[in-house]
Amino acid sequence: MSTGSSFNIQPIGRFSGECASVKRPREFACFSYDDKHEFHLDDRSMQWYYPPRLGADLSKGFDTFDKHDDSGDEHLDSLLRTIMAHEQQTGAKIDAQFVTWRGMMTKLMSAPFEDRDGFEMNATLYQDCIFIEENHEYKQASRQEQQNQQRGRRPQQFSPDVMTFWGYKFEALSCLPRPWGEVSREYIETREDHVVSNKAQYCSVVRTGIGKSILCLGGEVDAIWDSKPAEQGKPINWVELKTSAEIRDERGMANFERKLMKFWIQSFLLGVPKIIVGFRTQDGILAKLEEIKTVTIPETAARRGVRSWDANMCINFASAFLDWLKQAINDEGVWRIRRAPHSHAIEVFRVEETGHGNILPDDFINWRIKL
Ligand code: A3P
Ligand code: MG
Ligand code: MG
Repeated sequence: MSTGSSFNIQPIGRFSGECASVKRPREFACFSYDDKHEFHLDDRSMQWYYPPRLGADLSKGFDTFDKHDDSGDEHLDSLLRTIMAHEQQTGAKIDAQFVTWRGMMTKLMSAPFEDRDGFEMNATLYQDCIFIEENHEYKQASRQEQQNQQRGRRPQQFSPDVMTFWGYKFEALSCLPRPWGEVSREYIETREDHVVSNKAQYCSVVRTGIGKSILCLGGEVDAIWDSKPAEQGKPINWVELKTSAEIRDERGMANFERKLMKFWIQSFLLGVPKIIVGFRTQDGILAKLEEIKTVTIPETAARRGVRSWDANMCINFASAFLDWLKQAINDEGVWRIRRAPHSHAIEVFRVEETGHGNILPDDFINWRIKL
């Protein structure tokens, strides 16, 4: 293992000030997983938002939850398949300097204000572009550790599995497979009884920019408000769905505002303009809906004097970190990007001297060689 280098997160004060330039994310491709989690190069799993009924029980159907088994490492495979198909269609390579899942960028961008959880990613340089995937072993291990910690705590009324289910149930209660006018009334009225599954997904693939870096990001979007504009690249009225505990006191308010940072970053990166929060009681009953415009989140945080995070600093940090990463990952092989929990720095070091590990599948490499 060769020695690496590290990028200091602290002191974060150096990221304040004028915001680095950002490009509006534009979708240039998409893909879907169907209800068996099989890949398709189309938008078949896109869903339409239609408000859920207040008072609905988010635990209902937990016993029949059709849960995706995510123990296998999916790498960047679906994203690269979609990029490859796009390149075959246009005959040209995409111009991104970074290709990754939106979730990886969310971890990086929130790093200045979130130090509890660490992360590990694998990266490889190929044809002037850095491809970044999550380190699957690390993700599995930290999840295991989280579960062990939860077991050690005072038993809760609802298990962590049920509480995770609430998020998917809220999606099922808030979405339709086709626009409202094309769905029967009966379908809408029986939504609460439908089997909940997290196997199907619609993923948007966008080109975006932070500072001097051009990125291609892939990420799941939960629903659309109306319909996709006819012209590609125009803003799309995506909707991000989130559940959160009802705010009952100052502490609850502070918790929610911290969560808003993650909601904002996640939606900002794909250009999702609206977040719909389903507030639930302690017992998992849907109590209230709130529509939040993504662009208003940073100013609300600033206006309320919430000093816990700052959107410009997240952007400036990401911009500086990506610039640094281009210098750090400058040769072939597989690199690790690591932040230990509570650490003030992100380390980058090489774990394989040659090749691209399992980050890039052969058919992607073979296609790119020809270009
Ligand atoms: P909530 O976000 O309402 O809790 P997303 O909001 O990103 O579309 O994810 C949908 C749901 O997946 C979440 O609903 C949550 O139930 C589950 N989920 C997503 N990321 C998770 C994580 N890191 N740990 C546990 N559950 C997660
Ligand atoms: Mg989602
Ligand atoms: Mg969601």
